Amino acid sequence: MTETRGKKTFYISTPIYYPSDNLHIGHAYCSTAADCMARFKKLTGYDTFFLTGTDEHGQKIEKKAIAQGVTPQAYVDHIVAGIKELWKLMDIEYDDFIRTTDERHVTAVQKIFRQLYDQGDIYKAEYEGWYCTPCESFWTELQLKDGKCPDCGRPVEKTKEESYFFRMNKYAPWLIQYIEEHPDFIQPASRANEMLNNFLRPGLQDLCVSRTSVKWGIPVDFDPKHTIYVWIDALSNYITALGYGTERDERFRKYWPADVHLVGKEIVRFHTIYWPIMLHALGLPLPKQVFGHGWLVIDGKKMGKSVGNVVDPVVLCNRYSSDAVRYFLMREMPFGSDGEFTLKSMLTRINADLANDLGNLVSRTVAMIEKYCGGRIPAPNAPEEIDRALWELAEKTPGRVEEQVNAFQFSAALQEIWKLIGECNRYIDQTQPWVLGKSEDGAPRLATVLYTLAECVRRVAVCVSFVMPRTPERIFAQIGVEEEGLKSWDSVNRPFAVLPAGLQVKKGEALFPRLDIQKEIDRDADAAEDAEKAAEKAAKEAAKAGKKEQKAEKKAEKAPKAEEPFFPAEIGIEAFDQCKMQVARVLECARVDKSNKLLQFRLSFGKDGERTILSGIAKYYAPEELVGKQVIVLANLAPRKIMGVESQGMILSALDDKGELRLLSVGEGVEDGAVVG
Ligand code: ME8
Ligand code: MG
Repeated sequence: MTETRGKKTFYISTPIYYPSDNLHIGHAYCSTAADCMARFKKLTGYDTFFLTGTDEHGQKIEKKAIAQGVTPQAYVDHIVAGIKELWKLMDIEYDDFIRTTDERHVTAVQKIFRQLYDQGDIYKAEYEGWYCTPCESFWTELQLKDGKCPDCGRPVEKTKEESYFFRMNKYAPWLIQYIEEHPDFIQPASRANEMLNNFLRPGLQDLCVSRTSVKWGIPVDFDPKHTIYVWIDALSNYITALGYGTERDERFRKYWPADVHLVGKEIVRFHTIYWPIMLHALGLPLPKQVFGHGWLVIDGKKMGKSVGNVVDPVVLCNRYSSDAVRYFLMREMPFGSDGEFTLKSMLTRINADLANDLGNLVSRTVAMIEKYCGGRIPAPNAPEEIDRALWELAEKTPGRVEEQVNAFQFSAALQEIWKLIGECNRYIDQTQPWVLGKSEDGAPRLATVLYTLAECVRRVAVCVSFVMPRTPERIFAQIGVEEEGLKSWDSVNRPFAVLPAGLQVKKGEALFPRLDIQKEIDRDADAAEDAEKAAEKAAKEAAKAGKKEQKAEKKAEKAPKAEEPFFPAEIGIEAFDQCKMQVARVLECARVDKSNKLLQFRLSFGKDGERTILSGIAKYYAPEELVGKQVIVLANLAPRKIMGVESQGMILSALDDKGELRLLSVGEGVEDGAVVG
């Protein structure tokens, strides 16, 4: 930790997220963990900087935008707004949100690229290699698997591509030594061995860092037909957000090197190999730690858009409160390992830990102080052994929590707090305040017992605040705590009996109402069914509406989700095999009435017959110029009605450098109906 004007700094980041339609609870898991850590560091006195953001460039986004008929920028703007809403709903309190489309990022990345080029770490190569057309990927001889594309297993063609490459190989020996000498750098430690044995020791390939085929990205400023490709753009966010390379780099000087980059286990490799090498080449110190967490899985499969097993955090937060969702995520699985997500396990935790253990402790304590002490917290008398044991546990708990949180063991940290809660509930059963309240000479003991409980409740409230930011205020209101000093970390690290006697308690609503688990599960199933029906209905209406083009298009977009899967980072060959793409020739082409976007095509698929397809390219082509041309069609897309006409497939196009759609085609000599693949 760096000392700045007396205050220790702490810099933590999440990965920057791909702006897919909706982030799921798996993404929220990563952000929640980072937020909990950041809050804990703020609570314990650090000058904390918590960075998150979005990774907005690349072909997937470009395609997705085209599919929706909007520019990539408009597409990402819309989604990023939604992501920020989600973080607000979940109380993810970041200090900065970096977007890779931010001007500050773009110029800094160009500068970084140029510096690496000028000093010889990046070089340009006219590369003879192998190209996989369906994947649009370039491979070296060595990367091929049995002479085929290592991603999809299809045949590849010999080709030449001009690309910039980063000399990763040159730095491998240095990095191996660095990792060996810094055992804390990669956590959990098992991931360090994986990096060393599987990637570094066998030798590193130089990394391709530019593409000429991808337009939606940051151009290499001294060679603009190249776009800076993926990792140099994405990884740099951790320093461009701090103003690195600009005159306003106070934040960089204050917070770099980061204390920890928190990332999912599948991207540990990029953060512990490419990123350190880039930084080292730039003459910068490395982040102190990269922590790779596990995945939320459903039936053993990683939750993800591509599998379609996603759970919407917005729904969960609205139903059960963001504090409950955050608690569950941090408590259920040891950080670093994968964890099954089920609604049932979440509801079970909410009932057991929050409604019963915590909720009952608070409500019983407050109710008894109201009943036996006129609603004022009594002053304690000399503690007996049973009291002292609990005081001692309460005094030790914060230190144990801190130790666990610092090791990213959120679940263990919460277990420490719940040990105290459990002991408090046992203490009530053992001391039986209701018996003391009835006996003549029970008053002095009763005062000590109820005071002890109130003070423990206060300490618990402070301790849970980094995971559940809303609950503490509700607890403080019930035990009459207003003074900020009584909500501080410092105040739970002092010897027991900090809470002043005499505060007025006030019974409030149950913190976490008990849930009928079966009813909630049924309700969830019903909601899913309703949503499906609503989507179907919207699709039908959209098809009927015909008149108002925009409205119709919007609804259709919302409707049949199966038609529009999100682009996953990787797909198996089976997924690609399901797409039938064919070459077709334009027989007729005309504008669609009342639409300034759509053209209606009559297409010949050779011996496969003819079809009608609508395409939103009217702004870019005159109908006449297209007759006789060959286009490429996604032929087994489910037919759908657009403006009253059934469209039987999708014509493929790509954005050009002016942001205009261009139809894809094939060279001469390809028959109509030929299958692409
Ligand atoms: O990888 N469980 O972005 P991303 C837990 N843009 N974590 C999950 C998860 C799940 N089911 N699904 C996703 C990227 N995540 C790049 C990062 S950083 C310079 C560039 C986590 O949106 C995932 O592990 O695909 C990753 O850490 C984060 O969400 C962002 O994933
Ligand atoms: Mg991913």
